[in-house]
Amino acid sequence: MPDFDTSVPHIARVYDYWLGGKDNFAADRELGDRTIEAYPNVVFSVRANRAFLARAVRHLVGENGIRQFLDIGTGIPTASNTHEVAQLEAPQSRIVYVDNDPIVLSHAKALLKSRPEGQCAYIDADIHDPDAILAQAARTLDFSKPVAIMLIAVLQYAGDDAEVDRIVRRLMAECVPGSFLVISHPASDIDPEQTAEFTRRFNESAAGRMTRRDHAGVSRLFDGLDLIEPGVTRTAKWRPDSELEAASPAALWAGVARKAQ
Ligand SMILES: C[S@@+](CC[C@H](N)C(=O)[O-])C[C@H]1O[C@@H](n2cnc3c(N)ncnc32)[C@H](O)[C@@H]1O
Repeated sequence: MPDFDTSVPHIARVYDYWLGGKDNFAADRELGDRTIEAYPNVVFSVRANRAFLARAVRHLVGENGIRQFLDIGTGIPTASNTHEVAQLEAPQSRIVYVDNDPIVLSHAKALLKSRPEGQCAYIDADIHDPDAILAQAARTLDFSKPVAIMLIAVLQYAGDDAEVDRIVRRLMAECVPGSFLVISHPASDIDPEQTAEFTRRFNESAAGRMTRRDHAGVSRLFDGLDLIEPGVTRTAKWRPDSELEAASPAALWAGVARKAQ
């Protein structure tokens, strides 16, 4: 087991707490409660985010024939991880997971339980080093064929607009036409006062800062790509399976776009 500093709240563990998971410590739970108090809808937001991930993967596998996924900022394994959803539809799918948190690394074995027809790999790397991520991912993924780059609730931890833009452009530059970019991102313009207080509390004590973005800021990340319907929407409104699902008060923007020919 790697060593964890359990006295400082960590993103992956606080997120696990919001989701109702067990892989968290007292400091994570304390910040989890303080942020829930500021914005109670965070518990709906994280669930709607996981549901969006599953619907997006299902859509890419079922409707677009995608069989390769690079999932950066994986998080602690929970229900419906990318490989489980993808391989249910297409067992030969290949998935590379990337995270920089030691507790996610300690769960990598669970993430690596690929169906025999497919393949899963785990990379311990920082999103700020897309070159290293791409080089290692190429051991499992064939970048001469379409890949879905999954940036699910992670870019808010990746710095300012210029840095986030650099990361997204670098990743997409490696992908052939027919590849996809999938993003979900906490919103600054949904319940703005509550979410601003939530973010202030989070940034005060967590290891790592988060930056929320508005609809225009998230939409810009897809520049040069073809957004598929329904464009950049609340996570819960992206091709929901039911009206109940669509009604979730989740405060994240989400979109899926295709790299054109
Ligand atoms: C909010 S969780 C999202 C997990 C998952 N993608 C989901 O949406 O359910 C964010 C994840 O990004 C990871 N992360 C944060 N900063 C990172 C960085 N600089 N490089 C790689 N991963 C990072 C965290 O460790 C955490 O597991």
